[in-house]
Amino acid sequence: MKQATCVHFAGTHQCAARQKPLPAGNLCTGMSDNLHQLRCFGCGARIKGAEARPDFRCALCGDLFEVEYPGWSERRGHDRPNPGALKWLWRERRCSSEALDSSGVWRFRELLPILDNFGSALTLFEGNTPLYHLTRAAKALGIDQLFAKHQGMNPTGSFKDTGMTAAISVAKERGFGWVACASTGNTSASMAAYAARAGLRSLVLIPDGKIAWGKLSQAMDYGAVTCQLKADFDGCLRLLTQIVNEAPIYLLNSVNPYRLEGQKTPAFEIAEAFDWIVPDHLIVPGGNLGNSSALGKGFRELHELGLVARMPRISVIQAAGANPLVRSLAENDGTALEPVEAHTRATAIRIGNPASWRKAARAIQESGGWCLDVTEAEIAMAKAELGAEGLGCEPASAVTLAGLKKLRARGAVDSGETVVLVLTGHTLKDADYTIDFHRGTLLNAEETAGVEAEIEALRRNARVVDATPAAVLATLKDRVG
Ligand code: F0G
Repeated sequence: MKQATCVHFAGTHQCAARQKPLPAGNLCTGMSDNLHQLRCFGCGARIKGAEARPDFRCALCGDLFEVEYPGWSERRGHDRPNPGALKWLWRERRCSSEALDSSGVWRFRELLPILDNFGSALTLFEGNTPLYHLTRAAKALGIDQLFAKHQGMNPTGSFKDTGMTAAISVAKERGFGWVACASTGNTSASMAAYAARAGLRSLVLIPDGKIAWGKLSQAMDYGAVTCQLKADFDGCLRLLTQIVNEAPIYLLNSVNPYRLEGQKTPAFEIAEAFDWIVPDHLIVPGGNLGNSSALGKGFRELHELGLVARMPRISVIQAAGANPLVRSLAENDGTALEPVEAHTRATAIRIGNPASWRKAARAIQESGGWCLDVTEAEIAMAKAELGAEGLGCEPASAVTLAGLKKLRARGAVDSGETVVLVLTGHTLKDADYTIDFHRGTLLNAEETAGVEAEIEALRRNARVVDATPAAVLATLKDRVG
């Protein structure tokens, strides 16, 4: 193993860099600060974490907050963190049987000092998700290095778990008895599970008839009080904001900045998987735009702390029927966002008024990424292609491959680039979508116009056959040589 340059095991030792004694058995990472504050993304106002309003909006300008660690930016020279020691420690924890070390979020806790006491952290062993090499899609697109970071392989089947472990732990530490979210399904499934583990009650507001059954079943299973409202996601979130302003309920949508702190950690896992040489390009689906914001923050912090040399390009892909950020960036360079009435079968990203749009716009603009939209047929085909590689994912996750195809066709992605698609949800979350696609009942004629043959080639409908070897073998005759 390559030895870190400054690993000081203590006991009799002092950390040479910081001139401070080290606790026995510890190694000096140079990251002893555990203070955080909240900074308003709009007006820059700073408040203590406990001073945030229940809706997490700034009292001065109404914008959202993000977690800031004041000690980090002031560090100079020897006072900067010790990258070798941190990287060594984070990897080493993967071999530990301690609960927090086994979490792919909390093993990076030096960059997540949001709790007064890490003993309050509540984990379901989220994170540490697989990074798959997409060989077939890479070949089809003429790209050497194409990967999928599969966040659907988290405990409740979506990327939300990395954020939920962080925010539920804060809720618990601050003494809340109830937590709540508005959701297109995955947030509610995740919140309900973590709340149940933490012994908290949970309230879920979801748009009636507009979420996948797999997700609804999870919220019920984990014991949430689930209300299906005659409203879309944006309406559910508006209503919940009023409710938390009236009752002592902790809001767990991604307007809660602690959610995004947990959701930044896949950036650390990705950087680690590439031996801290970040990939060229990260492609993320966009709904309420918390995830792209969080991943941008994760890579930005790694860069600011000197742990990686640069940020990857971060591109965000939306469904064409739910594309307010695409419009905002095209029409006014991301200075204003006009909400849209959202329509897409990728129900997870059926969001017309995304809360974190300013943060996502920053991640795209500062990293030199793109924001574009893809049609219903493009989403369905990309999902089938990922399925055919043995991965599978939710429709909302497949926008990443659909977006990459478009970017490649435009010449925006080079064949030599290393590209990572962030797959956000497990394929079993929305089995109806997959079955409808393969049965040929998902898309209408208008949607498939011009791509009928491509879709036909991807369909694998189940066949009803007689229960005889001859009948079963007959179904293989055009496929077995
Ligand atoms: N992919 C999946 C599978 C999702 O569930 C979501 C969002 C997104 C992508 C978009 O992420 O909102 O951070 O831009 N689902 C939320 C929910 C809104 O309620 O489960 P985002």
